[in-house]
Amino acid sequence: IVAAPVDGARWVAAEVASAIRQRASEGKGLVLGLATGATPRGLYNELVRLHREEGLSFQNVTAFNLDEYYPIERDALQSYARFMRTHLFDRVDIDPARCHIPDGEVAKDQLKPHCRAYEALIEEAGGIDLQILGIGNNGHIGFNEPGSSIHSRTRLVNLDISTRLANAYEFQGVSEVPRLALTMGIATILRARRILLMGWGSQKAPVIQRAVEGPVTESVPASLLQQHDDCTFVVDAAAASELT
Ligand code: F6R
Repeated sequence: IVAAPVDGARWVAAEVASAIRQRASEGKGLVLGLATGATPRGLYNELVRLHREEGLSFQNVTAFNLDEYYPIERDALQSYARFMRTHLFDRVDIDPARCHIPDGEVAKDQLKPHCRAYEALIEEAGGIDLQILGIGNNGHIGFNEPGSSIHSRTRLVNLDISTRLANAYEFQGVSEVPRLALTMGIATILRARRILLMGWGSQKAPVIQRAVEGPVTESVPASLLQQHDDCTFVVDAAAASELT
């Protein structure tokens, strides 16, 4: 529990930096799982600062993003592909060929092969070393909405109305928010060797309490993280306010 989001962002950025450097010292690259949305913006600003001011290099980082709306054009203002370029990828020395995100432009009849290929790419890269997560007010991780199976893999999902309402600020109103998305599955996320979930603000307090202290249930996807060996929730005081 940190005092404010800025402290949490700095702490998580320091963990990412140290994981990158540790892997580099072994002559290897880090496989990093990334999230979008309001929560990780401070983290990405801090990683950019570490790159510019402290020489942190992303040259040996391979990135896999959790999710993308479907369908959406890669260059649309609201696409997560564009979000990642704007907030991180275009601001550091990462190789664009190593930046992976489910493709919101893939043809409908290619969705299944695309999702299978995404899983295969993660495996070929050696699996995710460190996965960054946010959390939805309904407990979703990635776009795995309540009811998602613990065995789920990368796939096409329906977005809950609560998720579309929460993300309407990025669009011209809720009717413009896509009804579908591509997301890594719960099983994909649980295979990451280490997981850091960030949550800021009093709005997230009820779901943080249910995820950390409630029963392990597919109704609260983030509660399934209780079964992971190395998962840390990084929350500010407001988001921690309902923990007992
Ligand atoms: C986005 C993602 C989502 C968000 C969640 C919280 O890539 O995986 O699970 O982390 O919807 O969104 P914010 O951070 O906007 O509150």
